[in-house]
Parts: sequence; C-alpha cells; structure tokens
Amino acid sequence: MITIAPEMPEDSWEVEALYDLCFAPGRTALSSYRLRDDVPPVRALSQVARDGDHILAGAIRFWPVHVGEADALLLGPVAVHPTRQGEGIGASLIRDSLWRAEHSHWDRVILVGDAPYYRRFGFSRLEGVEMPPPTNPDRVLGLELRPGAWAQVQGQVRRWTGAAQGEQAEGF
Ligand SMILES: CC(C)(COP(=O)(O)OP(=O)(O)OC[C@H]1O[C@@H](n2cnc3c(N)ncnc32)[C@H](O)[C@@H]1OP(=O)(O)O)[C@@H](O)C(=O)NCCC(=O)NCCS
Repeated sequence: MITIAPEMPEDSWEVEALYDLCFAPGRTALSSYRLRDDVPPVRALSQVARDGDHILAGAIRFWPVHVGEADALLLGPVAVHPTRQGEGIGASLIRDSLWRAEHSHWDRVILVGDAPYYRRFGFSRLEGVEMPPPTNPDRVLGLELRPGAWAQVQGQVRRWTGAAQGEQAEGF
C-alpha cells in the first residue's frame, strides 16, 4: 500500500538520493535548477510516496517562479524509484499535488518534461514562455488551475524574488 504525505525536513536526504538515482548525473547543472537556487520549495505541495514498510517510492517537489509579470508553480522534480515505476505512483503524486494546488492560491503550473507523459494530466506546450536556455521549447508545458490562467501570460521564466500575490512561498 502506498501512502502519500507532505515532505518533511527529515525526508529531504532520501528525496535527494532518489533524485540522484533517477536522473542523469549532474542533474543540478540543468538550467531549470537555476530557478531553484536559494529559493525554498513550496512545502504544502511537495510530497513523498512511501510503501507499507515506509520505504520511499516516489517524490514530487514544486517551486514558485515568475513568468513575465505573473506567478506560477514549477512542477518538479518528480521521480519514482526504478523498482516501483509503472505502478501509477507518479500519476498519484502528480494528481494529488495538482488537486492541492487547485485548492490553493496558485493559478498556473509550468514544467519541463515529456509531453507524451504529462499530456494525460492536462499539460500542453506553452507558447511564448521562455525557460532559461538551453531548454527545448517543445518540453515547456503548462496547466491552467483556473480557466484562462495562461492566456495572457508570456515572457521569461525567472527565479522567485518575492510574493507578488501577497502570500509567501514556504520552504521546508
Ligand atoms: C516519469 C516517472 C515519474 C513516471 O512515474 P511512474 O510511477 O513510473 O508512472 P505511472 O505509473 O504513473 O505511469 C506509467 C505510464 O507512464 C508512461 N511513461 C513514463 N515515463 C514516460 C515518458 N517519459 N514519456 C512518455 N510516457 C512515459 C509509461 O510508459 C506508462 O504508460 P502506460 O500507462 O501506458 O503503461 C518515472 O518513470 C520516473 O521517475 N522516471 C525517471 C525520472 C523522470 O524522468 N522524471 C520526470 C522528469 S520530466
């Protein structure tokens, strides 16, 4: 049985180890990580999935970012342990976190990833939104938490510098 729960500070080293296992070496050199430097993740949405023996099976984190004049949630990294992939754990983590995001003050979500996977959650390619280079524009995907939330939003994705909507993003 898999249980999904908010990531706590004591989960952090296990989550980092899982990400190291699941992603190519040097993952933190990716341009998307520059958006995370010195910015706390959004604690209320970042979650871990553990099995009945309390072993970490998967994890998802979110960061706040600015896109043009707007704010957005940056989804990721999300990863599932190689021995547990294909069981629906990734989908459960993503759906549960997006449900929480819908019931928060956030309006829109952005990620860099494979459209064939993320399309099932409602993500589609974002036009006119530029992630820090080098990023393949075909992998820049967005999801509206409120109807029309991406309609007028264009420009560069920038590191979070403050709470434009009056609510501070909260770290671990
Ligand atoms: C991507 C990942 C999080 C998916 O988690 P998961 O628990 O294995 O996924 P689910 O069980 O929810 O879904 C499995 C389905 O997704 C598909 N899928 C997984 N990764 C995919 C990808 N990159 N592109 C397209 N489809 C993908 C599988 O083929 C499977 O399809 P099916 O339902 O038709 O059989 C996991 O495979 C993982 O950790 N991969 C390594 C890290 C990574 O790439 N993270 C995402 C960064 S963009």
